[in-house]
Amino acid sequence: MEKPSPLATIMLPIVIVLLLSPHASYAAQATESVYETFVDCLRNYINSPNISNIVFAQTNSSYSSILRAYIRNARFNTTSSPKPLIIVAPVQESHVQTAVICAESIDMQIKTRSGGHDFEGLSYISDEPFIMLDMFNLRNITVDAQNKVAVVQAGATLGELYYRIWEKSDVLGFPAGVCHTVGVGGHFSGGGYGNMMRKYGLSIDHISDAQIVDVKGRILNKESMGEDLFWAIRGGGGASFGVILSYTIKLVPVPEVVTVFQVEKTLEQNATDLVVQWQQVAPYTDERLFMRLQLHPMISNVGERHKTVRAAVMTMFLGGAEELVSLLDKKFPTLGLKKENCIEMSWIESVVWWDSFPNGAHPEALLGRNLNSAKFLKRKSDYVKDPISKDGLEWIWKRMIELGQTGMAFNPYGGRMNEISANATAFPHRAGNLFKIEYSANWEEPGGSAEKNFTTQIRRLHSYMTPFVSKNPRRAFLNYRDLDIGINHHDNNSYQEGEVYGFKYFDDNFYRLAKIKTEVDPGNYFRNEQSIPTLKL
Ligand SMILES: Cc1cc2nc3c(=O)[nH]c(=O)nc-3n(C[C@H](O)[C@H](O)[C@H](O)COP(=O)(O)OP(=O)(O)OC[C@H]3O[C@@H](n4cnc5c(N)ncnc54)[C@H](O)[C@@H]3O)c2cc1C
Ligand SMILES: *[C@@H]1O[C@H](CO)[C@@H](O)[C@H](O)[C@H]1NC(C)=O
Ligand SMILES: *[C@@H]1O[C@H](CO)[C@@H](O)[C@H](O)[C@H]1NC(C)=O
Ligand SMILES: *[C@@H]1O[C@H](CO)[C@@H](O)[C@H](O)[C@H]1NC(C)=O
Ligand SMILES: *[C@@H]1O[C@H](CO)[C@@H](O)[C@H](O)[C@H]1NC(C)=O
Ligand SMILES: *[C@@H]1O[C@H](CO)[C@@H](O)[C@H](O)[C@H]1NC(C)=O
Ligand SMILES: *[C@@H]1O[C@H](CO)[C@@H](O)[C@H](O)[C@H]1NC(C)=O
Ligand SMILES: *[C@@H]1O[C@H](CO)[C@@H](O)[C@H](O)[C@H]1NC(C)=O
Ligand SMILES: *[C@@H]1O[C@H](CO)[C@@H](O)[C@H](O)[C@H]1NC(C)=O
Repeated sequence: MEKPSPLATIMLPIVIVLLLSPHASYAAQATESVYETFVDCLRNYINSPNISNIVFAQTNSSYSSILRAYIRNARFNTTSSPKPLIIVAPVQESHVQTAVICAESIDMQIKTRSGGHDFEGLSYISDEPFIMLDMFNLRNITVDAQNKVAVVQAGATLGELYYRIWEKSDVLGFPAGVCHTVGVGGHFSGGGYGNMMRKYGLSIDHISDAQIVDVKGRILNKESMGEDLFWAIRGGGGASFGVILSYTIKLVPVPEVVTVFQVEKTLEQNATDLVVQWQQVAPYTDERLFMRLQLHPMISNVGERHKTVRAAVMTMFLGGAEELVSLLDKKFPTLGLKKENCIEMSWIESVVWWDSFPNGAHPEALLGRNLNSAKFLKRKSDYVKDPISKDGLEWIWKRMIELGQTGMAFNPYGGRMNEISANATAFPHRAGNLFKIEYSANWEEPGGSAEKNFTTQIRRLHSYMTPFVSKNPRRAFLNYRDLDIGINHHDNNSYQEGEVYGFKYFDDNFYRLAKIKTEVDPGNYFRNEQSIPTLKL
């Protein structure tokens, strides 16, 4: 293999200057020369006439549809959203190695996109010129039901993973997220949680090996990458360390019958008492039971039209309905659960139910990739360590009603989460957390005015919640990416800037992450607005 011409390195600064130039034709020429240089480099490594099949220049007629296919947040689907100079869609793992070597050699940033669900679009936008590595073709899943293991490539979706497991066995499953289009690459590396979290912990608690392409273009596995890097890519995010090709996972047993229900109450139906009791039960109860509490302001038509808050308890129980009803009758009487609220089903059916498909949808629905469809989204997160009092809740309801559009979901911790130490993986939020809050604003109208309304609201609610949530640092969940909590500037990528968001996402694990980063990518090639910084630049 020949090293690409050093000319490329010399050319790049000129190219960037040209890109910033107001003269579109110069910019077009510059883009073209980056493309030529990059493709020439790829050809040095990939001895096949087909190389151009995986590389898409901005001028290519397929470029837009490929870019949009996995944009999952419409906020980043505008003409002014920064776009990759080139999209590379590898069809072999070696193509990823080549793309890293060639992009690095011309000092061009790479952003890796697996499922595209990053809430701030960091897998497909950047404030620096960049090449996007789109992993959707690398989505093989090999399930070995006998040995209860699977190898999953980064570009697979959670829905595909669940379906392929179910094809082989109806008593095996995997603890991961609810939305079937979420990508394995981003989800697993950031922690990955779902409705079996209290029984089995996170996705990363069941990873036994991984393959990653490092900054030198080498494919490393657990043994060759070493314990440190393997620790980091379980909860520390993938994007700071390289390109993850696949994870090897250990499947978990699921019962033949599980039970789900959703029960809702408004303030008039004593939702406040329900939430008080939920806090006493949900984080402590049987670990087979996961009760997500969703809170949303709404207009009630019961009696005179008025504003209220609705509390919905959405539940997964790894067992039968009868046992569940008798358990909750004792522990959670304000819920008023009845047998007829419960639906018994198989585990794969519960995956479909939780993902809000229409009743009776076939598990094959999980294979759908819903290309090129997205709402406008903003998320924030918090961790709660002490129960919120009834007075506190009543004050929060008033604020939610005033704001009018922003919802919260309380996701109970406890169970298995309490048993895994905070430094077992890079994900730090374990014992001591009662629940995690996910703040969500979703909207449909394009334009700056709607965006301003919704993002202002969600920020206000987050700010109102300050007295009730974790402090020093106020913690956050990496997979609910939120650039409001701090960013690193690429022209000034510093440990000091990184600390601001780093301690919120990683708590005491942040320093070890920065040390590992410094060892595996000392030049800070793999970076973004919230990547792990090197200790010294
Ligand atoms: C509708 C929706 C539902 C969600 N539900 C859940 C849920 O139930 N539970 C939960 O835990 N989270 C959930 N999330 C959050 C989700 O886990 C994260 O957004 C996750 O990062 C998405 O992974 P992705 O591959 O789809 O995203 P991407 O946007 O492709 O990637 C996210 C980040 O990881 C990096 N990355 C992606 N692939 C690789 C790779 N192969 N190698 C190195 N770095 C990589 C990207 O560069 C980016 O920084 C949800 C998100 C959405 C939009
Ligand atoms: C090249 O592409 C053609 C058509 O897309 C395909 O049939 C062939 O197998 C490819 N060859 C290689 C070496 O990948
Ligand atoms: C677009 O890019 C693809 C992949 O490189 C290539 O096969 C195709 O010929 C290109 N089409 C045009 C019109 O340039
Ligand atoms: C996916 O698996 C098939 C069948 O085992 C194999 O032929 C193919 O090369 C794999 N693809 C990738 C991208 O690894
Ligand atoms: C709400 O609680 C009060 C006081 O405990 C009780 O009297 C009332 O019946 C409850 N209302 C509903 C709708 O459950
Ligand atoms: C992006 O915008 C285009 C055109 O405005 C639209 O056709 C497409 O559906 C949008 N895609 C997403 C993912 O929002
Ligand atoms: C992990 O935390 C435990 C205490 O919970 C501590 O004893 C141990 O040294 C820590 N390990 C590392 C590698 O920091
Ligand atoms: C923004 O909020 C204001 C006040 O609530 C409302 O009147 C307006 O219609 C909203 N605009 C958009 C675009 O949502
Ligand atoms: C660089 O980082 C320092 C330390 O956080 C900060 O004070 C400064 O404003 C940053 N400069 C730029 C240009 O972002």
